[in-house]
Amino acid sequence: MVGGTERGHAMSNTITTVRGAKPRWLRRIALVLGGTFVAFIVVLQGVALALPRSNPPVRAEPAWDSPQTRELFMRACGDCHSNQTNWRWYTFVAPAAFLAYRDVTQGREKCNISEWGTRGEQKCDESAETIQKGTMPPWFYLPLHPEARLSPQEKQQLIQGLLATFGGDEEGPSGQERPGVKNDTDEKEEHKEQNKGKEGLIPSTIAFRLS
Ligand code: HEC
Repeated sequence: MVGGTERGHAMSNTITTVRGAKPRWLRRIALVLGGTFVAFIVVLQGVALALPRSNPPVRAEPAWDSPQTRELFMRACGDCHSNQTNWRWYTFVAPAAFLAYRDVTQGREKCNISEWGTRGEQKCDESAETIQKGTMPPWFYLPLHPEARLSPQEKQQLIQGLLATFGGDEEGPSGQERPGVKNDTDEKEEHKEQNKGKEGLIPSTIAFRLS
């Protein structure tokens, strides 16, 4: 029994020695790396807090076809496509802050219903299409915003409402910007010619684009 205790002592001594022998330089490196990491996080968070989370005044809105269309749009799209963004708490925390900031800035650039008639409408006419395709609202937005998840009926309602409010996409399949440059009718007719007879083969979203 006595021998056993002694052996136990010997063992714990060995362990202590091994622990104590952890080289000092290793600790220093760990400390420097850890310190750098913490400093990095602090700076990152500082920048995140300094981002301008602005909600400029609402200048003008489109002539909504119905209050429901606006309501659905604000629910599913308004955070990124209006000047009435709900800057939630996590938009103050890095790295979510950077993603949210980028989304709102780029989203407003493409389509901002709060600056209608100035330059807000840029690409709003593609809205119905993006919902149909499922690209808008972006997938990563939904888990954090369950209220933006639309039922199939609500989706249809919003699509119809947006078509009535914004009109369809007037861009040709060649991707050229809005009518008014040279062609307009000529070129559209041409595309119609090209796509004659393909109607049944083209998925409805694309057919919608072509029409
Ligand atoms: C989380 C922010 C966010 C939400 C919510 C959101 N969008 Fe977007 N949207 C963006 C960003 C960012 C872009 C530009 C970058 C891109 O094209 O992917 C964009 C682009 C667009 C465009 C321009 C066409 C295009 O694909 O570039 C349309 C139209 C659009 N969104 C419609 C909608 C509609 C309709 C909804 C609601 C059903 C919606 N968006 C919800 C962020 C958002």
